[in-house]
Amino acid sequence: MNVDLTGKRILVTGGGRGIGRVLCEMLAASGARVAVHYGSSKTKAEAVAEAIGGGARAFGAPLDEIAATEKLFDDVVEEFGGLDVLVNNAGTAIKSPLGKEAFAYAADWDQTMAINLRAAGLLSRRAIMQFRKNDPPGGRLIHIASRAGFRGDTEDFVAYGASKGGMIAMSRGLARAFGRENIKSFVIAPGWIRTDIAEESIALYGEEVLTKDNALVGMARPEDVAPMVVLLASGLADHATGTSIDINSGSYVR
Ligand SMILES: NC(=O)c1ccc[n+]([C@@H]2O[C@H](COP(=O)([O-])OP(=O)(O)OC[C@H]3O[C@@H](n4cnc5c(N)ncnc54)[C@H](OP(=O)(O)O)[C@@H]3O)[C@@H](O)[C@H]2O)c1
Repeated sequence: MNVDLTGKRILVTGGGRGIGRVLCEMLAASGARVAVHYGSSKTKAEAVAEAIGGGARAFGAPLDEIAATEKLFDDVVEEFGGLDVLVNNAGTAIKSPLGKEAFAYAADWDQTMAINLRAAGLLSRRAIMQFRKNDPPGGRLIHIASRAGFRGDTEDFVAYGASKGGMIAMSRGLARAFGRENIKSFVIAPGWIRTDIAEESIALYGEEVLTKDNALVGMARPEDVAPMVVLLASGLADHATGTSIDINSGSYVR
């Protein structure tokens, strides 16, 4: 089987580091032209775009800002002439203990939802409108959610789990609502993957604690997530639209 993304224009949010960086690398290696989005990691995103080639370019936008998120989409479409696949990968995990003062606790929820869910919804909305202009019309949405969206998260990360659960419901809704327009929507639900997010938790709790539920030995890497995204982006799995694919080392088998 040949997975070929030649001619596909793909926007990956949070492409400068972590899972997003490896997604950009593997998508480009399969022939795609990649828009590498960044929030604060400008230098890293530019280096990724430069390294992967194929007409890749870095685009900046703070995803907690609505106008900037809209502008990001405009900029990518202007530069690439359209879009075939959106990968909603950018995300944040804010530690927010129950004992926090109510307004500070609410601010953590707002920030988590703005980045992890609202921005993904805004970009999906624009992508769907853009996909309708493709010839033939259509496109693919791939959302990087989390095991936490199904299983829930620990006491300090309740909002994070809720945002990912929202993302899963959003993807299912989009898949069902727009399938007849040849628009597909998929979720990847990772468990622990060794990136900056994970390193913070490793520092807090230790790797052994984080991986104790794993069926497999050790913690997965971004390279264990990216091939599935390449496959979904290719169109070879379109009839799985609406699905969520677990990549969690067997730690939570639904
Ligand atoms: N690693 C895991 O164990 C794990 C497990 C389950 C799910 N996930 C999900 O996988 C996705 C990628 O996570 P990761 O592990 O690669 O995390 P990471 O290394 O911490 O990277 C987070 C990415 O999100 C971007 N981002 C965060 N806040 C942003 C904002 N306000 N505006 C714009 N971009 C923002 C960052 O961009 P800048 O650096 O440019 O700001 C960065 O590229 C996330 O959605 C995460 O929830 C990760």
